[in-house]
Amino acid sequence: MSIYLDNSATTRPAPSVVRAVEEALTVQYGNPSSAHRLGVAARRLLDESRTRVALLLGVSPEEIVFTSGATEANNLAILGVARAARALPLSSYDDRERKEREGKAAGAESRPHLITTAVEHPSVLEPFRRLEDEGWEVTYVAVDRQGQLDLAALSRALKPETVLLSTMWVNNETGVVHPLQGIREVLIQFEKTQGRRPLWHVDAVQALGKLPVSPRELGIDLLSLSGHKMHGPKGVGALYVRRTVRLQPLVWGGGQERGLRSGTENLPGIAGLGVACQEARERLAADPEASYLRRLRSLLWDGIRESIPGARLHGPGPDTGAVAPHILNVGFPGTRGEVLVRYLSERGVHVATGSACHSRRPEPSHVLGAMGLRPDEIQASLRFSLSWENTEAEIREAVAILREVVAEVRSLTGWKGRDD
Ligand SMILES: Cc1ncc(COP(=O)(O)O)c(C=O)c1O
Repeated sequence: MSIYLDNSATTRPAPSVVRAVEEALTVQYGNPSSAHRLGVAARRLLDESRTRVALLLGVSPEEIVFTSGATEANNLAILGVARAARALPLSSYDDRERKEREGKAAGAESRPHLITTAVEHPSVLEPFRRLEDEGWEVTYVAVDRQGQLDLAALSRALKPETVLLSTMWVNNETGVVHPLQGIREVLIQFEKTQGRRPLWHVDAVQALGKLPVSPRELGIDLLSLSGHKMHGPKGVGALYVRRTVRLQPLVWGGGQERGLRSGTENLPGIAGLGVACQEARERLAADPEASYLRRLRSLLWDGIRESIPGARLHGPGPDTGAVAPHILNVGFPGTRGEVLVRYLSERGVHVATGSACHSRRPEPSHVLGAMGLRPDEIQASLRFSLSWENTEAEIREAVAILREVVAEVRSLTGWKGRDD
């Protein structure tokens, strides 16, 4: 028996995705840049896949840049914008005339500034840290106890020198949905007073296929996605780059992907990603609220709450709109997450600790830390992440096994009851 509840770490590729990957490896194996018939067929598949990704996002195919995954897409967005901005005189971003009106010396250097949040994925936080080393000022906006972004703090952080804001759509550890509409309004207000606003990048990895994602409606300039989080292949992703956004590439070479990402395209991966996007679009059209996933999530939380004493939800309640339909983060006082993961896995239930899907480093989660949880609370948490493939029967079975495993671990640690 295997119950897979770690879909935010990765998902099982859909059978149609596997077929598309195999076909690209065996039939359309030409180089999309070649002029012969095989090359032309490969180019056609590349274009078709780009269109499928663009349709899911409601953008133009020319605005999609294929990458090796969301890590690269996030790096390209952040480092690419920052380095393109550096390549220009700062005054072209800051509006020389406005500076003169304000009596500052034209061209006087202010420290260029970037904003992100304290709860981003490492593939966002690390590029910002590198930029800090390069002399940029970075503001990391805080979240509250529920993991929700402090919009007032975001508004205060914005400055005329701010070049880029990067916020995720759905947090990968807690499922918290950032208030993108609120962020948009903060940016609109800022633009009204300053005459310009920073570019806005969104890491939408955990939102794609679960929530309607429409960057144009929200005024998002750059948006990252990953194939393997949505039943596509690993090692492929994409960055939406709004038409007029200037980016400096990270990878230089033959000029593929409009010069933004050189290198022969990973056509098998891209074909699989295209199919995954098409299926995600069809699924969302049939169930726009992702109510199937929401039902599973509620079943899981209700089962845990009713049968495991002291279990604590990390993040907003399931009935609020502020949480994604597929992620549940729960603390089990008197246990350790990594022990639960091992015990559960031995019994066929696969989940993750609260501390992310990005590495095997046993560092406490920075996301739960930013929400003000104590280290012992962080270490006692588990993340459950669902997919359309899970069933109600699996959730009931997982709850029953979890109840036994938590009781077993607590009997070893001597936990007697609530500890708060
Ligand atoms: C929110 C978020 N952003 C980015 C990534 C990185 O994606 P990839 O594995 O495609 O590099 C992940 C997954 O680890 C994620 O959950």
